[in-house]
Amino acid sequence: MLALPFIDLRSERRLLRRPVALVAAVLVVLSMGVLTYKGATAKEALASEVVQAVPSWAKKEGFAGNPQALAGAKLFASSGCTACHTYLGTGSSNLGAPELSSEGSKHKGIQFQISHLKCPSCVNSGSPMPSFKSFSDADLKKIATFLEASKGPK
Ligand code: HEC
Repeated sequence: MLALPFIDLRSERRLLRRPVALVAAVLVVLSMGVLTYKGATAKEALASEVVQAVPSWAKKEGFAGNPQALAGAKLFASSGCTACHTYLGTGSSNLGAPELSSEGSKHKGIQFQISHLKCPSCVNSGSPMPSFKSFSDADLKKIATFLEASKGPK
């Protein structure tokens, strides 16, 4: 940009005689506006919105009567799990993380789920999933109960 006045030594100055530069400048300004607007109004899946899906998950998966599983589902929905995992269409799938609404039908067991959450790569070698060992034992148990209660939509 700084060098442009020395490189572009044409004598023509009128804007209308410089269609390419004019169109480029207009497009730059327009796209700045459009992208700013898009960025400001972008819809992010907020944790609170994911949590709102929990009652419908409980109904479809049939764990509405299980308070441990319900509490686990809320933790799951509010702890960033859905940044990589989908659950009945909620969340986004990243790093090859599996959809978890049928996790319980694999019958891996509560203990496996807790170990996996504490150190994913210790039980599933090469797993890129981060460790969630900062959760309390009670919370880990709730999430594990929720996962094991997720045997696929009925
Ligand atoms: C950064 C991405 C990422 C996040 C965040 C994440 N996971 Fe995972 N998860 C993965 C990947 C990748 C795998 C597949 C490898 C594996 O099994 O560890 C996986 C696998 C799993 C499995 C399947 C394990 C098995 O062997 O059946 C469960 C259950 C699971 N994650 C639960 C969770 C829970 C609960 C949370 C939130 C507390 C969470 N994940 C957060 C990436 C993620």
